[in-house]
Amino acid sequence: MRTLIITGASKGIGFKTAKLFADDGYRVINISRTVAADSRIENHSIDLSGPDAETITRTLLDDILEDGVLSLVHNAARLINDSAADSITADFRSMLDINVVAPHILNQILIPKMQPGSSITYIGSTLSEKAVANSYSYVVSKHAVVGMMRSTCQDLQGKQIHTSCVCPGFTDTEMLRTHVGEDQEILDSIASGSTFGRLVQPEEVAETIKFAATHPVINGTIIHANLGQIEN
Ligand SMILES: NC(=O)c1ccc[n+]([C@@H]2O[C@H](COP(=O)([O-])OP(=O)(O)OC[C@H]3O[C@@H](n4cnc5c(N)ncnc54)[C@H](OP(=O)(O)O)[C@@H]3O)[C@@H](O)[C@H]2O)c1
Repeated sequence: MRTLIITGASKGIGFKTAKLFADDGYRVINISRTVAADSRIENHSIDLSGPDAETITRTLLDDILEDGVLSLVHNAARLINDSAADSITADFRSMLDINVVAPHILNQILIPKMQPGSSITYIGSTLSEKAVANSYSYVVSKHAVVGMMRSTCQDLQGKQIHTSCVCPGFTDTEMLRTHVGEDQEILDSIASGSTFGRLVQPEEVAETIKFAATHPVINGTIIHANLGQIEN
């Protein structure tokens, strides 16, 4: 049976992605702190930024997962407002733990279990390739994700495992609404930055992730899912 292992599928883009794979008959394993409300999804509650994340995750996955064709999607992430001048080191480390170190840990555990036909899909951001003010830790971590994807591509030569990085634009999820607030004027202003004049829907990103995870020809590439951003 084909298996999806995804982080952060309790909500947002991850939840829609997990549902899409489940619709297609995949076994779906989610790792997040809270659960995904869909009985087809196997939920495992782990704080991926916690001190014991590596031990807990390794024990769990060794127990429940045989070698096979695996689709691994590194989706869980945090976003905070900070800047190069005022970022608190503990917060910076915590951001790297969830956004960068957790994918590294899962790669270490799962690559040895992956048979040909498997894939590793990273979730970046528009901010994987550009920076804006006051998103310092997030920008740093999302640039690192692209480096990890490119290294993964090179290091897995000959293994028939492909990788890519899907970079969503402004997508209507809890992450965005927590970051910018619920003020409709602000949301409209953000939406007007895309050539379609609206926010990306999480289902649209989920479909892009499914495509990336199942098409080896895109190995090593970045795929933007942002409806076309208006350049000023
Ligand atoms: N929304 C956007 O506009 C946007 C734009 C660009 C890129 N992205 C990227 O898209 C991905 C999904 O974002 P989203 O908008 O769907 O975010 P979201 O709705 O906030 O969901 C984030 C997911 O990450 C999980 N998570 C966060 N901290 C965790 C931790 N310490 N341990 C385990 N799981 C944790 C959350 O689960 P629990 O809370 O249950 O732990 C949740 O399922 C992220 O990589 C994000 O950077 C989003």
